[in-house]
Amino acid sequence: MNAHPQAPAWRATVLTLFPEMFPGPLAYSLAGRALEARVWMLETVDIRGFARDKHGSVDDSPFGGGPGMVMRPDVLAAAIDAVHPADETGARILFTPRGRRLDQRRVRELAATPRVTLICGRYEGVDERVIEARGLEEVSLGDFVLSGGEPAAMALIDACVRLLPGVVGEPAALEEESFERGLLENPQYTRPAVWEDRAVPEVLLSGHHGRIRAWRRAAAEQATRERRPGLWARYVKTRYDKNGKKVD
Ligand code: ADE
Repeated sequence: MNAHPQAPAWRATVLTLFPEMFPGPLAYSLAGRALEARVWMLETVDIRGFARDKHGSVDDSPFGGGPGMVMRPDVLAAAIDAVHPADETGARILFTPRGRRLDQRRVRELAATPRVTLICGRYEGVDERVIEARGLEEVSLGDFVLSGGEPAAMALIDACVRLLPGVVGEPAALEEESFERGLLENPQYTRPAVWEDRAVPEVLLSGHHGRIRAWRRAAAEQATRERRPGLWARYVKTRYDKNGKKVD
């Protein structure tokens, strides 16, 4: 990996009530090595530092009643304005199960955005007015509920960092993988060739690259068709022309 003596090309700022959670898993493996090599930079900001009162209140009960607490707009806006003011380009993302689902396409765009600010909600949510007023992009990892946005921020950062130039040794590995072709990845096998009476598919031992490529493509298509109907429908649409003929 190339060391970058100057400013890192990609910078993530995380607004959180738990800055001590970071870098956490991001200090290890690929992302950790890239962090050390200054390919990217992580900055964590404690939202509580922007509280207006001496108790450090960042949340309050929801207007209209209901369970849980809601993050105050004034506190969060002060934190956002301090770290990523309106005149600075880049993405401002709020993690919430109400957001648009994160996908590899958006990850690719964000990896190409030098400045990304990630806001980790807690409690029942965040006052809607700060989302509107600061133009926050609401992002979800999927249809399940986390207790806070921090694991989502870590997931997004990890997904972006591995796409930064020089981080993954073999860029070809990135092109073959799940979602880059609009397909799930084909299954993989390694030694031993027979394990617990299970043999690996014979074609993979044949040394016949054309047949292996065709097998992998078919296996990836089968997995996508069976597991991800939505993804499959999109793939089929892009691969066949108006007359139903295969494009490649
Ligand atoms: N915060 C709580 N649940 C979440 C989810 N599913 N995705 C992203 N952020 C969240």
